[in-house]
Order: sequence, then C-alpha cells, then structure tokens
Amino acid sequence: MIQCHEQDGILTIQFNRPDKKNAFTGAMYLQLRDALIAGDLDPAVKVILICGSGKIFSAGNDIADFLQSSFDETAPPILLLRALAQLKKPLIAAVDGPAVGIGSTMLFHCDLVYAQKDAQFIFPFVALGLVPEGAATLLLPRLVGHQIASEVLFFGEPLTAEQAYKMGFVNKVISEESSLSYAHERAKALTALPLGSILETKALLKSGRVKAAILDQISIEAQAFMQRLKGPAAKKALTAFMEKRVPKFDLLD
Ligand code: COA
Repeated sequence: MIQCHEQDGILTIQFNRPDKKNAFTGAMYLQLRDALIAGDLDPAVKVILICGSGKIFSAGNDIADFLQSSFDETAPPILLLRALAQLKKPLIAAVDGPAVGIGSTMLFHCDLVYAQKDAQFIFPFVALGLVPEGAATLLLPRLVGHQIASEVLFFGEPLTAEQAYKMGFVNKVISEESSLSYAHERAKALTALPLGSILETKALLKSGRVKAAILDQISIEAQAFMQRLKGPAAKKALTAFMEKRVPKFDLLD
C-alpha cells in the first residue's frame, strides 16, 4: 500500500491503494511515517518524493476507519503529521488528481509541491462534521490570510491546481499527463546541491518557534477533531458517505 524505491539519492514513496483512491488506513499512516523517518536517517537518501497512483494523490483518511477510530496523540494520523513536521531532508510532492483531507494538509509540510493541471485540493472537514488537521488552521491563513482560509476551510470546495498555485502552496502547475517526471527532475537537481546547505536552509525556514507552533497546533486540532469525531454531525456525515447519500444535519450539530 505504501511503496518505496530508492535510486541515486532520491527516495520515492508512493501511495498505492487505487481501488480506494489511496485513502489512508491506520497501517498506511504508520508505513508512511516509518518510510519518511527511515529516509531521513539513511545517508544514501538526499531527497524524499511522495506521490499517489492511479491518477489520484489521496482521498484522505479511510472513512470506514474513521467510524471506528479515535484521534488522540498516539493515533496513526497524528504520528504521521508529527513526523512530517519534523522531517529534516527536503520533501517534494507530485500531485495528480484529487488530494483530499490529510492528502491536502500534508502538502503544507512539503518543501516543494508540483501539481498536474487537473489536480484538485479538497478540505472537506466541516462538511464531514469535523475540523481541519495537520496544522492547516495555522499554515493556510499564514499563506492566504484569515478570510480566504475561512472560505476554503468552511466550504471545502475543490481548489484547482491554478488556485493552489496562486495561494502559494503549489510551486508549479504541470501540463503533462503527470507531475511525477517534473518532480523527479527537481529532486535530481537537488541531489546535485550540497546536502548540508539544504538541510540547514530547511532547518532555518522551520526554525524553533515556527516548528513548535506547528507541533502545538497539530495537537490542539487533534483534540478538537477527536471531540467532533465522537459527535452527531460526524456520525451522520461519515455514515452518509458510506451509504452513498447526502447527510442531513440538525441545528445543534
Ligand atoms: N475512505 C474510504 N473509501 C473511499 C474513500 C475514503 N476516504 N474515498 C473513496 N473511497 C472509495 C469509495 O467508497 C469507492 O469504493 P467502492 O468502489 O467500494 O464503492 C471507491 O473508493 C471509489 O470512490 P469514488 O467516490 O467512486 O471515486 P471518484 O473518482 O468518483 O471520487 C474522490 C474520488 C476522492 C473525490 C471521492 O471518492 C471522495 O470525495 N472521497 C471521500 C474523501 C473524503 O471525504 N475523505 C476524508 C477526508 S477527512
């Protein structure tokens, strides 16, 4: 489900569960976290590249899993997000097709993001009766300001690659079939640069205060997320998704 391939200093990690649109199960979060940490520690790896498969980046958390899981500090998605936020080596994402939920919020922790022109970025948390995760409520307003972030996070309407580029969390929109070869070219270009300088530049970009604020926000959001996950709105929305129908909320949801 999470496949890794290392060549010439580039560790490529692919999400590979196309029948469920690369939705993340608990096991997949842990496999991805382990692969990232191993890449960070492996002296042969200079750059890490993440991508989806089957023309989708990821449909986010597995919805069936949501119905049975909790979301505390030791929950697999939180462990993954904390690892992403603390990664030392450069992380590149190649996004083709939809990136939903954590599939989108994880991009805020990448250093470079390349998106195929038909990619979509969807933050469906509110419509699912939940709240955003992955420090999205800190990192998105930092990029686009409070009002645009509120519009994106309240309505969860799909953003195009061009919109994401204008918002500043996509570096380049790729018009070819897939963004992967361009992302790979950029990864290769990075491997030719002095790794020590890159590591130090990344560390400076995410220096003490910034990283601490991100880790704090991941925890604060996780608590709110867990409360919402246990509430009636999330139950209604998640059950409705599984039953392929539109949910109906009550005033107090
Ligand atoms: N969890 C579990 N299963 C999922 C899933 C998810 N997050 N996203 C898609 N799937 C499953 C569907 O249930 C369907 O399964 P089935 O073939 O057994 O019926 C299969 O993947 C294909 O999904 P489908 O919706 O038909 O594909 P699509 O190409 O029309 O749409 C998405 C793709 C990603 C836009 C759409 O599936 C979607 O919105 N998924 C939900 C995303 C979401 O809300 N994630 C939670 C984030 S917090």
